[in-house]
Amino acid sequence: MMNHRTLAPTPPMGWNSWNTFSENINEELICSMADAMAAHKLPEAGYQYLIIDDCWSLKRRDDHGKLVPDPEKFPHGMKEVADYVHGKGLKFGMYSCCGPLTCAGYPGSFEHEFSDAEQFAQWGVDYLKYDNCYKPNTLADPMLYRRMGVALKNCGRDIVFAACQWGTEDVWHWIRSAGAHTYRSTEDIRDSWTSIEHIVRSQLDKQCFQGPDCFNDMDMLVVGMYGKGTNPYISIGGCTDEEYQTHFALWAMMGSPLIIGCDIRSMNEQTEKLLTNADLIAINQDPECRSCYQLSTWSNPEAFILVKHLQNGDMAIGLFNFSDTASNVELNFWDMGLPASSGCALRFYDCLTHQDLGTQREYFSPVVPSHGCRVYRCAVVSQ
Ligand code: GLA
Repeated sequence: MMNHRTLAPTPPMGWNSWNTFSENINEELICSMADAMAAHKLPEAGYQYLIIDDCWSLKRRDDHGKLVPDPEKFPHGMKEVADYVHGKGLKFGMYSCCGPLTCAGYPGSFEHEFSDAEQFAQWGVDYLKYDNCYKPNTLADPMLYRRMGVALKNCGRDIVFAACQWGTEDVWHWIRSAGAHTYRSTEDIRDSWTSIEHIVRSQLDKQCFQGPDCFNDMDMLVVGMYGKGTNPYISIGGCTDEEYQTHFALWAMMGSPLIIGCDIRSMNEQTEKLLTNADLIAINQDPECRSCYQLSTWSNPEAFILVKHLQNGDMAIGLFNFSDTASNVELNFWDMGLPASSGCALRFYDCLTHQDLGTQREYFSPVVPSHGCRVYRCAVVSQ
């Protein structure tokens, strides 16, 4: 029988150190984050990976060309951290870059791809975020990402290849063939509504370029950051709870990896509830991984609808209002392949309040708050 197991059958979920901590990382922080992830039952909700981002190594390789974990930050080395993380029921992620230097100026993997991949495998790494800074002008990105794609595939361990490419050089067309399981498609997210809106608008027409084992990564979540954190580029004011909910619902509907960026140890109840919303996560993790399609709504040019077909025949329907005032968003079932002649209606379940809303025919038009959303899981029922 063929083995159909793959490394990223649905979008990877986890936590990454960059958004809140940038270079201020160390063994104690990472282990306490692993504790917090386990205590809040995040692995059970689907968040498998704990990922250390940039700034974990010394600024120079050793005499054998090996990367050296900074002994002040990680006095016991990375294997011990990996073991600790694994002991909490999590998988362990690390970071490198396709250029000779990482974005923060630490050694990158250029011309060391194969020995670095082996090193990561020896440490017990399960996921590698692979950035795009300081690369040589003479080499195109497909070549650089292909190198690490081959190296990881042959390093002796299953390692998810999370390409962080920022959406240049038409990445959508070639990144799957380079072996990546996810690919960052935009510039860095910031903790502001403007940044979320900008990322979403830039990716709405790229929905078809993703699916099992190669997902469009719209960047780490800023949910629950509220302008906090040590990264001055990212922590710029924060969002409202309504905006964080819309952000999470969009990442879920659009099939992006869900990588938490806030400090889990101090997240508030609202943040925890949102990040563990099983109905939104089920849409993101639906086994068929269909991309969603977009519909517009005639009364509000700043609102739009996303529809995603789910494996069991249900449809996930998200209504999003980017305008500055609350407004009705009209949903015509005709537009979703359900004309009156089908004899079918939709039974609505609200994924934000977790309530059944009953059956609607042909048309539904709820009020959606400014910068807010409504997300439903709808079963097709005959009338
Ligand atoms: C780039 C990436 C970020 C982060 C930083 C680290 O900007 O896009 O996600 O990894 O580098 O320096």
